[in-house]
Amino acid sequence: MSNPSDTFDLADSADLAELAPLAEPAELIDLSMNESPYAPLPSVQAVVEKAVAQLHRYPPHTAAGLVTALAQRLDAPAEEILVGPGSAGLCQNLIQSLGPQRRQVVYPELSFEAYPLMVFNTGSQPVPVPLTGYAHDLDAMAAAVTEDTRCVLVCNPNNPTGDVLRTEQLAAFLDRIPSEVLVIIDEAYREYVTDPEAADGLALRQGRDNVCVLRTFSKAYGLATLRVGYALAPAAVAQRARMTGLVFYPGGLGQVAATASLRPEVDQELLTRCAANAEARTRLAESLRALGLPVAPSQTNFLWAPIGAEAENLAARCRAAGILVRPYPGLGVRITIGSAEANERLLAVASAG
Ligand SMILES: Cc1ncc(COP(=O)(O)O)c(C=O)c1O
Repeated sequence: MSNPSDTFDLADSADLAELAPLAEPAELIDLSMNESPYAPLPSVQAVVEKAVAQLHRYPPHTAAGLVTALAQRLDAPAEEILVGPGSAGLCQNLIQSLGPQRRQVVYPELSFEAYPLMVFNTGSQPVPVPLTGYAHDLDAMAAAVTEDTRCVLVCNPNNPTGDVLRTEQLAAFLDRIPSEVLVIIDEAYREYVTDPEAADGLALRQGRDNVCVLRTFSKAYGLATLRVGYALAPAAVAQRARMTGLVFYPGGLGQVAATASLRPEVDQELLTRCAANAEARTRLAESLRALGLPVAPSQTNFLWAPIGAEAENLAARCRAAGILVRPYPGLGVRITIGSAEANERLLAVASAG
């Protein structure tokens, strides 16, 4: 999991002013959390500001407005849509809702660091399957499925390696998984994907009754602090997850912000931001490679530098220069694509190494 000091912790926020001296220096650049470098869109911010006047109210408990907006946008029946406290919260909710009869969860490793925690929190058994290079080893994952498999997690594109599975690969994999085993495709970074051959979980779930797709408003939509994710799941799976999910999530501000983010006039801005991310991704990757660092191809808003034993050293040098990146000791460093200025500062540190 990420270093707690890298995250903004609201737990002790009784008096934020008092805490201010403990906060990181204002100029610290955080490229460790795969956040959007953009401030919220003014139109979305305005809706949230207005909703602040309703903080004393519970949010609509079925999130009907947001679910309806998603159903229209995704052309999917509302009963197949789940919304919840981030896609990570929904993922744990889904694993739990499948029940204890089958105990094992198959997932890729190296992948999203929260998966092992979700497995632990749901009382299930971890079945991590090592990557092959930067990619899921789909053959090994299919072979790891047994009569005790509760579900399979697929992270596409994969965090932290940035690799994306192609349509044919993922379709062939799904066809090998028994229909009673749910495959949860985590597409937290989907909006950043530019490869036309990349698998699209929403298309692949058509005609398959055991596929669930997770997406989020945290990344490209830039609403990470509001904790809103959504899932498209078979209706029966969604229904069970609603029964076991936490109540009143997402909160009211999250519901209105996410709903406002789905308005057609926001689309162009989202596309512009994702296109800028893709350009910056190419530029930063090429510049780092030119400095002699290995950098994996990425379809996300971050880069993976598999520098092994040098990981902690590079992260420490970045930290000393006021930049947080995410080291994976002995493996590599994950670097979020930041603003133009942040990327330049990162390159300056890397070139001084
Ligand atoms: C693969 C993956 N899934 C899910 C999440 C969490 O997203 P959310 O903020 O929607 O819970 C992350 C966040 O880093 C992620 O990398």
